[in-house]
Amino acid sequence: MSSIEAGRQVSVEELMAYNATLLERHKRLRVFKLFSDGTLEDPAKRELLFACVQVFARHFQTMLHTRQAHCADDFYRGIFLKHLREEVGHDDVLVKDRGRRDEVWDPIMEGSAAWFISRMSVLDNIEKAAVMHLVLESSGAYMGSVCGPAMRRYGSADYFELHDEVDQSHVTMVIEPLRRQSPETLARVRVTVEQAWRVLDVWVERVATLVLGDDAVTYYPTAS
Ligand SMILES: [Fe+2]
Repeated sequence: MSSIEAGRQVSVEELMAYNATLLERHKRLRVFKLFSDGTLEDPAKRELLFACVQVFARHFQTMLHTRQAHCADDFYRGIFLKHLREEVGHDDVLVKDRGRRDEVWDPIMEGSAAWFISRMSVLDNIEKAAVMHLVLESSGAYMGSVCGPAMRRYGSADYFELHDEVDQSHVTMVIEPLRRQSPETLARVRVTVEQAWRVLDVWVERVATLVLGDDAVTYYPTAS
């Protein structure tokens, strides 16, 4: 039976505590260990990881633009635009770090990305915000904190340090909008948040699977 259950009423504090438990589960995924266990000393594995992160960075830009395009509410449009402006072009920062822009094509990563992009058009604004800020930005903040030191050694730190610096503020910007919601709406948000963590966990675990060679990359173009 799924652990995704809709409670009848949820407070902001309960939602945040629940989100924290899902973040802790996420932190235990293999991909975050790659930055400290020596795996990335292998240049080929390092490039493969960067190529996977490049996929995420590009799709993340699409999520931001999709959310903006599908928002008609003045309150949320302002919040989303502020966030969009702070994030726009970060995929190019990673290209500069790497000195290349090639990506991996993988059906699991593409399917996960498509789920997130679709959420940015079909969900209510508060759910879009929760997926973006409680899930994606929480993961980004953690990634930045664990990856920055390793990436500095490889001379590819700008993209990762950027996230260490700003993503925590991108998590907290959703708190005030959440406080405007009814307990019933927050219960619905909790379900959406758990779904988003499940999909993100699959995506991130897939990166580890590919980098560690546990499954073959479907398509990996030559550097451009
Ligand atoms: Fe961010």
